[in-house]
Parts: sequence; C-alpha cells; structure tokens
Amino acid sequence: MAQLEPLTGADVPPGTGRRHLIGVSDLTAADIDRLLGTAATISRSLEREVKKLPALRGRLVINLFYESSTRTLSSFDLAAKRLSADTMAVRSSGSSVDKGESLKDTALTLAEYDPDVIVIRHPHIGAPQLVAAATRARVVNAGDGKHQHPTQALLDLYTMRASLGRLEGVHVAIVGDVLHSRVARSLIEALELVGARTTVVAPPTLVPRGIEAMGCEATSDIAAIAAADVVYVLRMQRERMLPGAAYVPSLREYAAEWGVTPERLRRGQVVMHPGPMNRGVEIDPRVADSGVSLITEQVRAGLVVRMAVLYDLLVGGAGAALEVE
Ligand code: CP
Repeated sequence: MAQLEPLTGADVPPGTGRRHLIGVSDLTAADIDRLLGTAATISRSLEREVKKLPALRGRLVINLFYESSTRTLSSFDLAAKRLSADTMAVRSSGSSVDKGESLKDTALTLAEYDPDVIVIRHPHIGAPQLVAAATRARVVNAGDGKHQHPTQALLDLYTMRASLGRLEGVHVAIVGDVLHSRVARSLIEALELVGARTTVVAPPTLVPRGIEAMGCEATSDIAAIAAADVVYVLRMQRERMLPGAAYVPSLREYAAEWGVTPERLRRGQVVMHPGPMNRGVEIDPRVADSGVSLITEQVRAGLVVRMAVLYDLLVGGAGAALEVE
C-alpha cells in the first residue's frame, strides 16, 4: 500500500464554504437532530414503489475505499443512487494504488472528474483531511484507522431512537475491543452530544488509557452490561493489532469471559453490533439472531442516514428540510 503523504497546512482550505463530515466533532446536537429527522423522512419515502428521489441529479459521488467494506460501501453507493446522483467506486486493490500511487495523487486524479462528494475509507488517521485539502469536493469519512466513523455513529443513534423512542438519558454499554475501534470513539462522542450515558466494558488491555475524558465510564467487569439499556458489541479488530501482541489469552477465553450471551443479558435490553460479526466470539449466535438484536435495523438505517448525510452536505444543511411529495 502507498504511504500516506503528510498533511500540509490547514486541514481544509479556508474560505471555501465547503462542509465535510470527517468526525463527530463536525456536528452539533442540532445537526444530529436534523440529520436523523431527514433520515426518517427518507425512510418513509422508501416505502413507496418508486424509491428514487431527484435531489442530487447531476451530482457525482465517488467512493474511495482503501480498506474492505460491505455495509458502508454498499449503502453509500445505494444512497447516492437513490438520490439520483452518479456514482463511482474506486477500491485501492485493483487500482493504481497497487502500482504505488499516493493518496494525494489519487485524490488529484479523481478531482479532475469534479466530484461533489468523496467518501473515503482509509487505514491511516487524517486521510479524509488530506483529500479535503487536495480537492474541491465535500469529504465524508467512512472510517480512518481507529480514529472516526461518523456515519456509523449517526446510524446507531437513528436505530436507538427508533427502537427506544429517545436518546437522552439512554444508557449504552459498549463491549469489546474499544482500543482499536473508530466505531467506539465516534459513538461515545455522539452519545455524549445527545445526552446519553456510556459505559465501556472490556478487558483491561483493550480499554484506551484516559477514555473517561470522552465523557464515559470504563470497567472490566462484564456484569456491568446488565445496567445498560443498549448493549453495543464490538468485534476484535485483529487488522489493527500490533503483530505478536497478546491482548487476550485466546479467542476462546475471550468468548468465555467477554462474549455477549443470553445469560448475560436481562429482559428489556436491546443488542447492537456494527458488523461484521464474529459469531461465537464477541456475540453468541442466540443473541445475534434473537428478537433483542437490532443488527438488521442498523443496516437499513445505514442507507437512510447516508442518504440524509449526502443530501445535507449538498442541498440541505440547517434551515433546509427535505420535502418528499
Ligand atoms: N460497520 C461497518 O463499517 O461495516 P463495513 O466494514 O462492512 O463497512
């Protein structure tokens, strides 16, 4: 893989008026409320036989993915198509990245097609800012290293609100490999913004030092999940672990000690997972396939929330609600 070139100067050229979604810190509580409202409107519109909306006709959305993805890539692609935009997907594998082309040169090349939005997933923190600086497109971060995955946090909030009817005061236990998780970092920040409470639950080796500064509690006692309304399960992010480092004795022992099983849940709780799941490791299949699981709802939310994000960046924003006939 080509090396990420260092950022030069400001993350985003000043005075362009472009908005990006690079991290949850780009959002206010009012932004989140508006985006979730737009997603709900879009969700109702998708119940119709003809599911396409004309809002982004003539616009171009490029999905630039340097890491594997099923949910994020497919939902951004379909989201753009459902809004009538043109789409292109460029994956690092099979592209000129294999020949050593840098991210900056790839971005400069794609910029010549005048994209309105570039959605980027990359293993290195800061890649979305580099694309924002190198192009005139709005940039959406679809995951940069263990840093941020803001649209995952938005779709998770959407799913929680649809299931529980509220976000304020909801208690979420995030269980698993928090250390390597961009999903956890984005979600903790987003939950703090909407007035929810978060407890991270993980083996001591997988709790980031100082995580409490983000406004959450941290414990290594798996029994703590019983106090939460939502049990949010994370997989072991083996692709981000240092080679040779032993964070847990074995996956079997991790499953026995930390796996979310029916016996560890109490009545009234719901369970979420961003996917992909490792069944039998962090989550028992009896939980994943049960009525308390919101995992398929999360996938569906991914489509409408990403439609809302694309619409909001290109057309909407504060004060411009989406109208669907
Ligand atoms: N949750 C998530 O980002 O899934 P993908 O890696 O399949 O996109």
